[in-house]
Amino acid sequence: MRAWTLDDFGFENLHLKQVPTPVAGAHELLVKVSAVSLNYRDKALVEGIYAPEKMPKGLIPVADFAGVVAAVGEGVTAFGVGERVTSHFYSTWEDGPWLPEYADHQLGGPLGGGLTEYQVLGENAVVPTPAGLTDEQAATLPIAALTPWFAMREYGNIGAGDTVLVQGTGGVSIFAIQIAAALGARVIVTSSSDEKLTRARKLGATDTINYRTTPDWATAALELTDGAGVDLVLDVVGGEGIRDSIRAARGGGMVAVVGFLNGQSTTLDLMDVIWHQTRIQGIAVGHRRSFHDLVRFLEDHHIHPVIDTVYDFPDAHAAYDQLAAGAFGKIVIQVA
Ligand SMILES: NC(=O)c1ccc[n+]([C@@H]2O[C@H](COP(=O)([O-])OP(=O)(O)OC[C@H]3O[C@@H](n4cnc5c(N)ncnc54)[C@H](OP(=O)(O)O)[C@@H]3O)[C@@H](O)[C@H]2O)c1
Repeated sequence: MRAWTLDDFGFENLHLKQVPTPVAGAHELLVKVSAVSLNYRDKALVEGIYAPEKMPKGLIPVADFAGVVAAVGEGVTAFGVGERVTSHFYSTWEDGPWLPEYADHQLGGPLGGGLTEYQVLGENAVVPTPAGLTDEQAATLPIAALTPWFAMREYGNIGAGDTVLVQGTGGVSIFAIQIAAALGARVIVTSSSDEKLTRARKLGATDTINYRTTPDWATAALELTDGAGVDLVLDVVGGEGIRDSIRAARGGGMVAVVGFLNGQSTTLDLMDVIWHQTRIQGIAVGHRRSFHDLVRFLEDHHIHPVIDTVYDFPDAHAAYDQLAAGAFGKIVIQVA
């Protein structure tokens, strides 16, 4: 079969090769991959800044994919040949609190990912692909949709009457807008582009702030909420900007720490947190039970993933380049 392998860190070491097709062992599925979607982590991983100490040489990258069961190993009961499945990123996290051991079972590094014609997955490392979605659409869900859903529903209890602030219009943020709007929340979105903000409104954003022309977006968010602040900030930017997120959240509100686009560390003024009584909640995607809940919610609300561009399998480098340039929604690579 053909697979992309990461033979060392750096995009110059990401190669398309012929490799042996894997065989499903006990309680495993052999999945014929139809499509993958890219997340920022997939790029950070190639660059060697995402848990580099955990990544094996020759890794097949990319966490999120959807495909069709091509063969089943001994003892598999949950799925049969021909069924459509979508990967579950934290492949051993079923439910309950996160445990450190789950980090060793992330798909697309340290475990093999989807940028390959076939991949073997545990029968519990997938969810059934929603009937109303194509494999290309389903491949966008495992990280980018589950992360904001987990923040808003497992931690934030967001619903009608709440206000959510979403940063940017990347993969996670577009799903955040769609989900928050469907939950009945008011959605404030920031972006570097007025054109993207117009498109965000069509997906359910109620208020928009251009963070290029209005760098003090936190004050703008406070003004939009009559000084009260928002119930939840989905912070995908990280770095020193966390302080603005704390300022933009209401007293006792939540800052969901999701991303690190502007850096993986920050200096916190504890007095900001103390005065605002902010709940700072780290988010690590989510567990499979929540993924099932999300899939039902997407179906009930007829939410379809927003795909910016679909690339062909040999054009993976171009797909990563577009992720770096800033896509509106998701970048997909068609495999089969
Ligand atoms: N903790 C978790 O479980 C988890 C899960 C998924 C992702 N993440 C992290 O979340 C971050 C976003 O991931 P992604 O896959 O959605 O990335 P992405 O698709 O590459 O999105 C990038 C977008 O972020 C926006 N952005 C960049 N700098 C910004 C800034 N200073 N202020 C506001 N928006 C800014 C831009 O939107 P505009 O073009 O509109 O300005 C850009 O297009 C990454 O750090 C990723 O690793 C974490």
